[in-house]
Amino acid sequence: MRKQIVAGNWKMHTCLQEGTALATSINKMVKKEVNNKDTGVIIAPPHTHLSVVSQLIDTDRICLAAQNCASEAKGAYTGEVSAKMLSSFGVKAVILGHSERRAYYGETNETLMKKVNLVIENEMKPIFCCGEKLDQREAGNYFEVVKEQIENVVFNLSKEDFEKIVIAYEPVWAIGTGKTASSDQAQEIHAYIRKLISQKFGNEVAENTTILYGGSCKPSNAEELFSKKDVDGGLIGGASLKAEDFIGIIKAFK
Ligand code: PGA
Repeated sequence: MRKQIVAGNWKMHTCLQEGTALATSINKMVKKEVNNKDTGVIIAPPHTHLSVVSQLIDTDRICLAAQNCASEAKGAYTGEVSAKMLSSFGVKAVILGHSERRAYYGETNETLMKKVNLVIENEMKPIFCCGEKLDQREAGNYFEVVKEQIENVVFNLSKEDFEKIVIAYEPVWAIGTGKTASSDQAQEIHAYIRKLISQKFGNEVAENTTILYGGSCKPSNAEELFSKKDVDGGLIGGASLKAEDFIGIIKAFK
C-alpha cells in the first residue's frame, strides 16, 4: 500500500526566527490535530534552518527535507551543500528537479541524475519533480514532456532504488499562480505516470509509488484533488507557509 504524503516546500521564504516559529506551530498542530499517523508529513525549510528545525520537530511525525543538494559529493564547490552534509543533520528527503531549479539554475537531466544518486547513496529519499509548461499543456504534448523527464532520470535507477523515490507532478503553469489543475487533469497524468512505472518496473512497484500533485494546492481544493485514485498527496508551496493552511491540507485526506 503506497503512502499518502503532504510535503511543504518553503522555497526561499522565512528568516530563521520565522522559520522556527512556523516549524514549532506545524509540529504542535500535527500532534494535536492530525489523527491519522499513517499520513506522511514532510517539511522542506531553507538549508539555513535545517539544523535548528531538526531539533524542534517530532521526527516520528514529521520528516525533514531539503529543497536541493549539490550534484557533487564533496570538494571545491563554493556555496554548495552536499547530500552527506544534509543527511548529517537529520534530513531524510530532498526535493529534486523542481521546475524553478530547472528554469532558473539550468538543471538538466544529467545534473539531476547525479543528485538523485547522491541522495540515495546517503540514505535519503528523492522527491523527484516533473511537469509541463503552459505552452506544452496547450499544445497537448504534456504526456511526452513528463515521460521524457522521468525516463531520462529516475528510470535509469535500479528497481530497488526506484522504490525509494517519491514523484511529484507539478504543472509549471499552476505553480504559485493560483491556477490549479482540475482534479481530472491531475488524475489523468498521475494515472499515466503510474502506467509508465508499471511498464518499466512492473505493477507492484507502480502501485507502491507515491505520486504527489503540486501547484496552488490549498485547503479548499485539496480534498477534491486527493480524492482521485492516483493522487497520493501534495507538494505544497505557498500554502505550506501558514501552519493552519498546511494542516488543513493534511486533514483533507479521507
Ligand atoms: P505552490 O507551489 O503551491 O505555491 O503553487 C508548489 C511548488 O512549487 O512546489
